[in-house]
Amino acid sequence: MAAATVLLLGAAELPAADPPAQAASCSACHGVEAPSLLPGVPTIHGMPQLVIENALYDYRATIRPCRKPGCDEPSDCPPLDFCSIVAGLSDQDIAVLAEWYAGREYVPLPQEYDPGLAARGALLHAARCENCHGGGGSRPQDQASILRGQPRDYLVNAIGDFRQERRIAVAEMHVMLQELSAEEVAALVEFYLSPRD
Ligand code: HEC
Ligand code: HEC
Repeated sequence: MAAATVLLLGAAELPAADPPAQAASCSACHGVEAPSLLPGVPTIHGMPQLVIENALYDYRATIRPCRKPGCDEPSDCPPLDFCSIVAGLSDQDIAVLAEWYAGREYVPLPQEYDPGLAARGALLHAARCENCHGGGGSRPQDQASILRGQPRDYLVNAIGDFRQERRIAVAEMHVMLQELSAEEVAALVEFYLSPRD
């Protein structure tokens, strides 16, 4: 069943690897395969290994706000607590999880977006973000996370966390985000929701 799904997605070039035991509690929110379907829950399949590792260390050390998934109906929310799950991960668990998820295929989540704002966001991205978030925010080799096709609520929360200094940013990225107006942030978000050409 799993093998057939992989073939249908055309991801046959990726090594067929069963998820490690540590990932059993992750799929309820992040999905068995990309993309993540719960609002506010990022897709972690195919993200850079270092970014996944850093994120898990930061959540575990409670220096990054740990949030519950958004759900359309309260009954849709998995009965799991992300914060307790990360609190219980060992360094070894984090290494195994980061390596496995980084080796999977990233799939952007198709979402509605405003084309006018997205066009403005594309210009802003090219001028200020593309240096580090290459390929229009989609290139994992940049080690700067994948922004393109992440769920809207997640993007809004992530940018807000940097702007309000709830999250540490390398290379003064939080200062760069603080300098943007609310309209510019909205335009960037619409751009990251738009499909790649
Ligand atoms: C109950 C739901 C839930 C479960 C279970 C869960 N997560 Fe998450 N995860 C979230 C949410 C919500 C966020 C976004 C939090 C925020 O806004 O920063 C997140 C964020 C992340 C991020 C940060 C991604 C980024 O772009 O910076 C990583 C990495 C991650 N989770 C890995 C895992 C792993 C590995 C597991 C299993 C050990 C797991 N998660 C289990 C809900 C969950
Ligand atoms: C100097 C390099 C650099 C520039 C320029 C930069 N970023 Fe980043 N950004 C990073 C790195 C590195 C990370 C991963 C940070 C981490 O792991 O906590 C990141 C992470 C992010 C995240 C969080 C993604 C996630 O998965 O949680 C968002 C959102 C983001 N950047 C938006 C932007 C936007 C918007 C711009 C342009 C206005 C921008 N960045 C410019 C380096 C940069």
